[in-house]
Amino acid sequence: MPKKHVLVCVQGRPQGHPRGSCQDKDCNAIWQAFLDEFQSRNLWLSGFKLTNTGCIGPCSMGPNVLIYPEGVMYVGVQPADVVTIIDEHLMFDQPVERLKAPPEVWSMT
Ligand code: FES
Repeated sequence: MPKKHVLVCVQGRPQGHPRGSCQDKDCNAIWQAFLDEFQSRNLWLSGFKLTNTGCIGPCSMGPNVLIYPEGVMYVGVQPADVVTIIDEHLMFDQPVERLKAPPEVWSMT
């Protein structure tokens, strides 16, 4: 089992779709920032895993990132937040409180 598994939503939807998507909110920049950091720090070889994924729930709050094993959901992630998430959550098990989704996010469909 990986130390941490980072899931980055890269879901897109047709223009005008009522749910919108993380693609609408430039999730590609988040995905790329994680890729760059994983590459430069060689995190794959240190027990971390990075996966791009389809919708993980709160589309209107994106770009969204979900980290296991804790099941911490980050919403509205910006490229500059990626280093913080890695430095604090992945390295030191300290979730980034200001980016955490509100609890009700888990009941969204
Ligand atoms: S499209 Fe990213 S959470 Fe739904």
